[in-house]
Amino acid sequence: MEYFTHSEKDLITLGKKLAANFKAGDVVLLSGNLGAGKTTFTKGVAQYFGIKKNITSPTFSLMNVYPVKSAGGRALKGQFNRVNQLGTNNLEIRTLVHIDTYRLENEEKLLEIGAEDYLGSTDTVCLIEWPEKLKKLLKNKKIVKINIEHLDAGRKVIIND
Ligand SMILES: Nc1ncnc2c1ncn2[C@@H]1O[C@H](COP(=O)(O)OP(=O)(O)O)[C@@H](O)[C@H]1O
Ligand SMILES: [Mg+2]
Repeated sequence: MEYFTHSEKDLITLGKKLAANFKAGDVVLLSGNLGAGKTTFTKGVAQYFGIKKNITSPTFSLMNVYPVKSAGGRALKGQFNRVNQLGTNNLEIRTLVHIDTYRLENEEKLLEIGAEDYLGSTDTVCLIEWPEKLKKLLKNKKIVKINIEHLDAGRKVIIND
């Protein structure tokens, strides 16, 4: 699937829209050059999950962990001790993890900070900028591939090419 966005705002809106399809345990690989819009896209995903914190690339911290507040404006399953009747697929997602490997020396460094506890975890969605650096950690994970390309007129976003 291919999309075209003309502004930063559009790209955030697209992130918000595509986040509705993410399932618990998904590992979303965000590829694209520096400044393509990987972090901007992540801001939209965070909005979908009701996260109010300002999202920035964890370039130095490597990994940011955010508690999910809601999904597309709907309360999480069980959060208010009642059964959710909607039968939707992503109300089990409790944690959003944002990883940026730009300054990562090797995969082991991510293990040291506990990334394995989150990657593929059944109540978590992980987004990874510069996923090309990872191999072992991505094995046997449910992968969603998103590529963002910087064009003169905006950004082309390709999902699961
Ligand atoms: N159409 C567009 N979509 C997204 N970002 C855009 C667009 N046009 C300009 N920008 C700018 O490009 C930059 C994208 O940065 P960022 O999301 O941090 O990229 P990355 O995380 O891929 O390095 C932002 O400064 C944003 O304002
Ligand atoms: Mg970034």
